[in-house]
Amino acid sequence: MRLLSFLALSPAAVYATVHNFSINNWQGYFNGASGVLQSLSPVADLSYDFSPSDYFHLRNGPGNYHTGDITMSWRLANSSEWQEIDSAASRQTSPNTSTLNGSLLRSNFDNVFPAAAKYMTITRDWQELDGDLILSYNIANHPSSPSIEIGAFGLPLEFNNIFTNRTPEATHIKCNLIDPYIGLDAGYAQVTRLTGTGPNIVITPATNVTKFEAWNFLYENPDQPCEYQSNVFEGLYAWQTLSLAYAENQWNATDPWMPPTSQILNAGESVTYALRFTVASQVADIESVAASNGLPVAVGIPGFIVPEDVDTFLYLNYQHPVKSMSVVPAGALSLSPATIPSSEWKAYSVKPGDGTFGRARLIIQYADGKQQAVSYYLINGGPQTVEKYAEFLFDEQWFTDDDPYFHRSPSVISYDYGTKSQILQEYRTWIAGISDEAGAGSFEAAAMKTSVYPVASQVHQLEEMVARTVYNWLQNKHANGTENPANSVKRSLFYWQPDLLPPDYYNKSIPFADNYAWNQSNAWDTWRAYDYVHVSALYWGLYAAESQSPGVLQLQNQTWYLLRAYETVMEIWADYDGKTPVTFYGSDGLMCETVWLYILRALKAEGYTTQFNQMQARMQSREKYWSTQKIPYGSEMPWDSTGEEGVYLWAKYFNNTALVTQTLDAIRGYMPTVAHWGWNGCARRYWDFLYGGSIARVERMIHHYGSGLNALPLLDAYKYNPTPSNLSAIYDLRVAYGGNMGPMSNINDEGFGSEAFHSFPDTMIWEAYSSDYGQNFLGHILGACTYLVDHPDFGMVSFGGNILTPSYGGVASVSVQPMDTVRQRIYVAPAGLAMQINAGAIDSFTYDSTAKAVTVQLGMGSGQSAKSAIMTYEDTIGTGVEYASSAQAGKSGGYSVTLPSTLTFNM
Ligand SMILES: *[C@@H]1O[C@H](CO)[C@@H](O)[C@H](O)[C@H]1NC(C)=O
Ligand SMILES: *[C@@H]1O[C@H](CO)[C@@H](O)[C@H](O)[C@H]1NC(C)=O
Ligand SMILES: *[C@@H]1O[C@H](CO)[C@@H](O)[C@H](O)[C@H]1NC(C)=O
Ligand SMILES: *[C@@H]1O[C@H](CO)[C@@H](O)[C@H](O)[C@H]1NC(C)=O
Ligand SMILES: *[C@@H]1O[C@H](CO)[C@@H](O)[C@H](O)[C@H]1NC(C)=O
Ligand SMILES: *[C@@H]1O[C@H](CO)[C@@H](O)[C@H](O)[C@H]1NC(C)=O
Ligand SMILES: *[C@@H]1O[C@H](CO)[C@@H](O)[C@H](O)[C@H]1NC(C)=O
Ligand SMILES: *[C@@H]1O[C@H](CO)[C@@H](O)[C@H](O)[C@H]1NC(C)=O
Repeated sequence: MRLLSFLALSPAAVYATVHNFSINNWQGYFNGASGVLQSLSPVADLSYDFSPSDYFHLRNGPGNYHTGDITMSWRLANSSEWQEIDSAASRQTSPNTSTLNGSLLRSNFDNVFPAAAKYMTITRDWQELDGDLILSYNIANHPSSPSIEIGAFGLPLEFNNIFTNRTPEATHIKCNLIDPYIGLDAGYAQVTRLTGTGPNIVITPATNVTKFEAWNFLYENPDQPCEYQSNVFEGLYAWQTLSLAYAENQWNATDPWMPPTSQILNAGESVTYALRFTVASQVADIESVAASNGLPVAVGIPGFIVPEDVDTFLYLNYQHPVKSMSVVPAGALSLSPATIPSSEWKAYSVKPGDGTFGRARLIIQYADGKQQAVSYYLINGGPQTVEKYAEFLFDEQWFTDDDPYFHRSPSVISYDYGTKSQILQEYRTWIAGISDEAGAGSFEAAAMKTSVYPVASQVHQLEEMVARTVYNWLQNKHANGTENPANSVKRSLFYWQPDLLPPDYYNKSIPFADNYAWNQSNAWDTWRAYDYVHVSALYWGLYAAESQSPGVLQLQNQTWYLLRAYETVMEIWADYDGKTPVTFYGSDGLMCETVWLYILRALKAEGYTTQFNQMQARMQSREKYWSTQKIPYGSEMPWDSTGEEGVYLWAKYFNNTALVTQTLDAIRGYMPTVAHWGWNGCARRYWDFLYGGSIARVERMIHHYGSGLNALPLLDAYKYNPTPSNLSAIYDLRVAYGGNMGPMSNINDEGFGSEAFHSFPDTMIWEAYSSDYGQNFLGHILGACTYLVDHPDFGMVSFGGNILTPSYGGVASVSVQPMDTVRQRIYVAPAGLAMQINAGAIDSFTYDSTAKAVTVQLGMGSGQSAKSAIMTYEDTIGTGVEYASSAQAGKSGGYSVTLPSTLTFNM
């Protein structure tokens, strides 16, 4: 840890150059010279500073953005050239400041921007409004000036997402993340603490022209002590209220989220853009804070990614009526009013137009002039999407060439949708090497698809891949030298080592050397614990396929795959020469390890008691270790959102309530819900394009695997929430469902699954590489479940299912048709009943509050051929719900039920 020079400065030296302020809800200080925000503490918790004030002196140079800066493009109405204003570009001249007229600090920028000052006066005020902090910019055209057009207006927002040189504990306690709801007049930004326990900030428009039109990444020189745009400092964004000038230039290759606009100021006219900073004590309060600041609020159930066959609802809460709605592209969606118990909210049923696919924008015009934008993503139904994806995986991504040097054939290999080709050579060798996340993703996805919808030919392909490529090549079957024991997994099959390959083998246009591509020895290292999870998921997928469709396996039997999965998991904690561990990171939560719970349960069900006990003991020792750590979410990175999935899983399994709570909070800190498909349930990920993207850079990733994987703990936790109709419980489910559906947006019309969406406004495209998309897909498949929830305002709602008998206000019974991708798991919240089957399908279920019963209609499913299934269920919140059958749970750990059949549960 490097000591920061700041520590040598006396507090007096810091404060001497600042303007302190203290208002009802906030205390802090502005920089004495530039007037930007340097520190912002909520009065509710003065020990917490939302701003990185301890690093300010490291970032107070030209080009470093802070809250209070502006970026603006303007031109005289008779000109075509935009002029740029950027208050961060140079700090040579400070604005003139005063504290007149009740302003906490007023700054005049005439001397900072002399060219603009010829035509307009730019003034910034920091003010108080009802105890909140207001940042306000006034642009006043001079009385005798020509008309000016403001083509871009950005308000940079700096909070403490600087993890540089902080311990994991300091990062967790001190830092926060900011995410946008790009929603025009209803837009806001939210700053959430990494603890997830608040307080948080909600940033809302403070004038009715400060619409949220775009979220603009701010480029800074990366060569600075805080390591801007690196895995310890993602970088900063600006709230963009006007964006026409960018849309015409830097962003002219993209389809922006919102229509780009500009503002004309005629002689003597002025405009004020202002933001308000309000505390929200819990993440679940963010929307109600936005509402109390006068914003319309939109809630989507189940969310904003809309499968064509799933009933989707939009709920609006605003004091003024809806005047009109419009949709882009035209006809992509239609909305019709629906009836709900609440009079405060208006409900609409949202239906995609025939044959529509991809992005769609809904603009709601309210009677008072406000416009709210809701961004949707339209897709095919779950099973159809999965079949389309599988066809792509088992056809376009199925690699069968002779591959004498790397032995990758046959395999499901990474794909570049840009060049429409398999990725056989890459300087990030693992992408072409079918291991690590970005190389293993495609076969892992194929295995997960097979685990729920086994198609015989696809199962056979995967079995061939196991027999010829995985077992005894990607995974060592026999020890090969001390460091590569049996069952160990290579980091990559592809490597870059020209002296071992024929001349001209490697594609000369790929910059292997510049990027230190792995040589054979590095590629064949077996120490990366993460890689073992993906191979265990492959075996698991084949095990599960046989339950879905008995007889589908041809090369090995079901238990062989289960035991391979087990051996692969346990190898992570093996050692060679009696002391040196085979792998690193086994004591961290590993992405995708939720599949291990299925493996563990299968070992028990199949009677492999010794293996079950050993695996369970290993998981327990990890859980015990985590409970001794303050921040048990370590990974390969200084901060990450990958460990929480595994930590939650085993904390829950071993009844460690404190660790469960802490982990759910951590996830709440980096996973928002907003009325935009991209950010809804989109867990923070921002560096994996470096390791898996064709556009390799640090960038907020939309629906990278954090979405699907972090949804798993929240989806599970909802089932155990003792008050499932509380808005804070439903908040978790909304985040979780958004995260679970995220991965469905990555699969395009042709069935290609992309790593993630590039959110920078000059890019706005799906990444061309498949890379580690499979991990996201695993989260989707393992989380797929239909929920029935009694919402206090909306009545009975379903996440993932279609309600067949709309019911509220005294109607006793409600029937639901599960429409989630898998259709084998349900959670009936009013009955506290979590129930699942491992074959067939749940065609419908009925919750009857009068009879106090749940009946479940089981069918044969599609693509599965089992005549019976194992049913397991749990009374998760102690309602006493019970399977009404004299049958006893069998050796399999559940009840054997025939397909089709009807099951009844009584409360
Ligand atoms: C600002 O506040 C700090 C902390 O309360 C205090 O030590 C300092 O003297 C104040 N500075 C000024 C210029 O008021
Ligand atoms: C545009 O207007 C400005 C200010 O009136 C004037 O100085 C300039 O010459 C005009 N430019 C053109 C191209 O007409
Ligand atoms: C700003 O301050 C400078 C230096 O004190 C002064 O020369 C200038 O006139 C001031 N400008 C305005 C617009 O007040
Ligand atoms: C897009 O903007 C760039 C940079 O301003 C410019 O060079 C290019 O010609 C523009 N392209 C189009 C299609 O307008
Ligand atoms: C904004 O507020 C002003 C003053 O309150 C009002 O005149 C104007 O119509 C409002 N504009 C919109 C778009 O709501
Ligand atoms: C065992 O290691 C040697 C030397 O690294 C290598 O040439 C050989 O291919 C390896 N065999 C297997 C089965 O991995
Ligand atoms: C599964 O196959 C293995 C050999 O691969 C064999 O030893 C075992 O008996 C088989 N199990 C069953 C249940 O057929
Ligand atoms: C956790 O608690 C549940 C419910 O009390 C119990 O059934 C289960 O056996 C416990 N699990 C462990 C590992 O102690």
